Order: sequence, then C-alpha cells, then structure tokens
Amino acid sequence: MCSDDDLIERALLSATVFKNEETLHPAFIPSKLPNRESQLIRLSHTFKPLLNDEGAYAVNVAVVGRPGTGKTASIKFFGRALEKVAAKRGTSGGVRFEYYDCFMFRTKSAILRDLLTERFKVTSRGFSDEEITSMLNKRLLRENTRLVLCLDEAYLLGQDLLSLIHSSEVANHGQAYISTLIACRTTDWQNSLSFPLSGRLNDRIEMPPYNEEELYQILKYRTELAFHGNIVPDDILRMVANIAAATKNARHGIEMLLWAGKAADRYNVRPITPEMIRRAKQEVFSELRSDVLYSLRYQELLVLAAVSRQLKLEMSQATTFLKVFESYQIICEEYGATKQAMPTFRKTIDALARLGIIGKVVESIGGGQRGRRARLTLMDIPVEIFDERVGEILRRRLAEDGEPEEK
Ligand SMILES: Nc1ncnc2c1ncn2[C@@H]1O[C@H](COP(=O)(O)OP(=O)(O)OP(=O)(O)O)[C@@H](O)[C@H]1O
Ligand SMILES: [Mg+2]
Repeated sequence: MCSDDDLIERALLSATVFKNEETLHPAFIPSKLPNRESQLIRLSHTFKPLLNDEGAYAVNVAVVGRPGTGKTASIKFFGRALEKVAAKRGTSGGVRFEYYDCFMFRTKSAILRDLLTERFKVTSRGFSDEEITSMLNKRLLRENTRLVLCLDEAYLLGQDLLSLIHSSEVANHGQAYISTLIACRTTDWQNSLSFPLSGRLNDRIEMPPYNEEELYQILKYRTELAFHGNIVPDDILRMVANIAAATKNARHGIEMLLWAGKAADRYNVRPITPEMIRRAKQEVFSELRSDVLYSLRYQELLVLAAVSRQLKLEMSQATTFLKVFESYQIICEEYGATKQAMPTFRKTIDALARLGIIGKVVESIGGGQRGRRARLTLMDIPVEIFDERVGEILRRRLAEDGEPEEK
C-alpha cells in the first residue's frame, strides 16, 4: 500500500490538461483582446496629448460597462502599451502608468501614500495629502514624466475621486502632469459618478456587453493560451459561449473553463465533456468577482466567513449582527486570529457593506417592541459557494503570511 506522501506526489506530478493555467487567473492580461480593438484605439487617440513634448496636459477618461466586459483588462493592457510607446519615442521623460484597485486602496490618502512610497520610493511619512501631491508634481515636472493614475472601481473613492482629478485641473497651463483613467461598472457610474464627473472628462468610453459570437472568439483565444491541443473541442467551446452569453460576461466563460479543466485533471478525463461544463455552470457565478475577495483585508475575510457560516447554519437569507459577532469569535479561535472588539467589528461590517459585498437591511424589531435593527445579507449567490471561496482564501493567506498585519 502506498503512503499518503506517495498519493500526494502522484497527484502533483500527474499529467495536466493545462499548458498554462495561470493564463486563466484574474490577474493575467493576455497580449490580445479580441473585440476590444476599437475601444483601445479610441483610448490611444484620447491619450495622444501625453506624448506631446510642448507642455504637459492632463487627460481624464472613464471606461464604463457591465461586469466582465473587459474594463480592467483593457485599461491595464492600454497602460502597458502606452508606457512602451512613450519609452520608444524617448523624447520626453516618458509616461508612467500606475494602477490602483479601489477595493484595496479606498481613499485618496492611501493612494497618494502608496504612490510616493512604494512606486516612487520617496518617504511619505508625516506629510499631508497636499504636501504629497506637491512633492509628486515637482518630481514629475523635474523628470518631465506624465503620470497616468488608473483607478479601477473608482466610485468607491466617493468625494476623494473628485479631489484627485481636481489636482490636475488647478495645475498651471502646460504643467498638468497627472492624468486619470478610471473604470467603473455602468450601475455604479449612473448611481455615483455620472453627475459629479460630467464636464470634467475628456472622454467616456463604453464597453458594450459581449454577444455569443464575440464570447466564442474570446474563449477560443483564451483556450489556446491555457490548454493543450484537443482538450477543449469546438462544440464544448460553443457550449461555454452559449452559457456565458446569458450574462454577457467574459469572466463567466473563463471561470467555467478553469473549473472544467481542474475537474478533468482531478478525474483524469480527456477531452472536457458536456457534463463537466454543466457542473461548471452550477459552480461558477458571474456575480462573484473572486479577485475582489482576494483584495480584502484579513479581518474582513474573517467577518465574511462569519456571515456566510451564520447564514448557512440558519439556512436563511439574512441574519443579525449579534449572531455574526458570535460566529466571528469562534472563527477567530479556529484560525488563531486576533479578535476585534465590538466597535471595530462594526466598522469592518460597514466597510464590507460599502464595498457591496454584504448587504444591510434595516427592519423593525416587531413583537410589540419599538426600535429597528440591521439584518445582514450576502451577495446573491449560494452561501455554500461563498463560504468555500472565503475559507480557501483565508487558509491560503494564513499559510503564506501567518496572521497578516493590517494596513
Ligand atoms: N476581449 C477580451 N479578450 C480576452 N479576454 C478578455 C476580453 N475581455 C475580457 N476578458 C477577460 O475576461 C475576464 C473579465 O474581464 P475584466 O476583468 O476586464 O472585466 P471587467 O469589465 O473589469 O469586469 P468587472 O466589472 O466585474 O470588474 C478577465 O479574465 C479578462 O482577461
Ligand atoms: Mg474590473
């Protein structure tokens, strides 16, 4: 009989359907974005003034679209290309493109501090936001470098977004070195940004939802990058495109392919079968951006784990704050994590609600009693799936860093 070590070794070294699994992960940016060519060209025309040697002019652009329409992929792709072209021309001090996911960096202060300290390697400790902006501007002026500050999910910044854009508006003529490229979902755009940003942008670029044929082309390309030949037959690819067409979301299709590929490896089945895709359809939820969960802080993940565990226990759609607090205490013990006291715990719940990951419904207590209380809910996906994903990320974090320091 073989030992558990042998079992693990065999599984680790077994043949895989993937040529390059990484290319299906959210952080990967492919070297081609089929069906986004016209948006990339439009972005290039709008940002042309950055390559102008006579004076620095700010360009502020928003990219808006439904989930999974390639906003994040397109802006990162464009930013990289812009830096390269500027470097090739080599006349001015070049263009620097700095990307921030506002799920992770939630205030102007956090972004400015990170920019200066981590990206420009200048200490920002003890300086105010205004001082940091001025230091940054002086540095850019001295080096004649144009900065494109890319803010993904920019609506999370609220008023801070306006004040970031404002810094370029007040610069002297020909000395506006900071441009912004923001990305945002259509609903968040309509709810929070369309009014305050009207008249302040050079362009707003729409990412139309993908139709079935476009999804097929995108998934075909992504399959060629990720899988060995003949693993995903054409009829399977058509099937995945057809399912993803219901949400018009490319992430939906890509995650189904990843899930099915993992199942093929687990059960050693080749090629991928329609049954595997049917299973993948049940396991993958286009509403859940797993990369958002990855960007959460450790304590936020613990609180989320508590909400989902409590909902699972109660087999309910909503639960109370106190019940979640009880679950949270137990989960902290299980992970050997420091427990937040009630006021800090409340703040963490509020932060998760602001990010749209949990919902707060206020209702009256009932039973003849006066008063109202908040009930907590989760995004509209099965709680088991949520619980599993959060648990997986928590365990990985713990294995990587122990209990990570909070920023
Ligand atoms: N045209 C495309 N070609 C290849 N891959 C694409 C294309 N559009 C999107 N993708 C891929 O689909 C996935 C989702 O795209 P992306 O994250 O850019 O969507 P998004 O519009 O930012 O969505 P969200 O609003 O949920 O943040 C990513 O893995 C991305 O690489
Ligand atoms: Mg995105």
